[in-house]
Amino acid sequence: MALVLPSILSADFARLGEEIGRMEASGAKMLHLDVMDGHFVPNLTIGPPVVASIRKATRLTLDVHLMISNPDDHILSFLEAGADQISVHQEVTPHLDRTVRAIQSEGARAGVVINPATPVSTLEEIVEIADYVLVMSVNPGFGGQRFIPRSIDKIRMLREWRQARGLGFQIEVDGGVSLSNAGALVNAGCDWLVAGSAIFHAADPGATFAAMQREAEVASLTQV
Ligand code: DX5
Ligand code: ZN
Repeated sequence: MALVLPSILSADFARLGEEIGRMEASGAKMLHLDVMDGHFVPNLTIGPPVVASIRKATRLTLDVHLMISNPDDHILSFLEAGADQISVHQEVTPHLDRTVRAIQSEGARAGVVINPATPVSTLEEIVEIADYVLVMSVNPGFGGQRFIPRSIDKIRMLREWRQARGLGFQIEVDGGVSLSNAGALVNAGCDWLVAGSAIFHAADPGATFAAMQREAEVASLTQV
């Protein structure tokens, strides 16, 4: 069953515990945390201390998306802070195999992320061991951007690989996800849909999350 992951990037950071509690109460299972370094992407967000505080405030699975130039230097800190799974960008991780194995050796799930301009073909080897692939459907750095339609083809290609090669990785999508494209994304092959502004900028974030989750579930049931 596909899951919607609220991305706290668009939440009110002064009331983060409350915002997360509302997602939990509305049925969320996983939470997406965006880590940005002002170098790999042109924005700055949170580090391990904030992840550790969130860990104390919720039992939701914490999905940490590292948008930083030197992920290898920080993986352990994020795992110690309470991350359940960590994704690193293909574009800044030269020894992707080593990095994925390092995350997994600590008992966490490891994901690899590709930017909109990075072809799926760059993941041909790593999908053999990665736990999930995150397809960026906007250029990373900011919430509230428009979904890049070509991302759907990349998701379909990953699903085909998964089927043809009998692999078990999950497919995640991040950027411009909303109620209007959630069903199509699940139909294309997505297991995890990350949504920030569509949820937290809505008049009723809890109800909007629940509506998106329902949409994802209906699409999962009718998936061909
Ligand atoms: C963007 C982040 C996303 C962001 C998505 O670089 O990785 O997780 O929160 O925001 P929306 O859903 O508003 O596009
Ligand atoms: Zn993200």
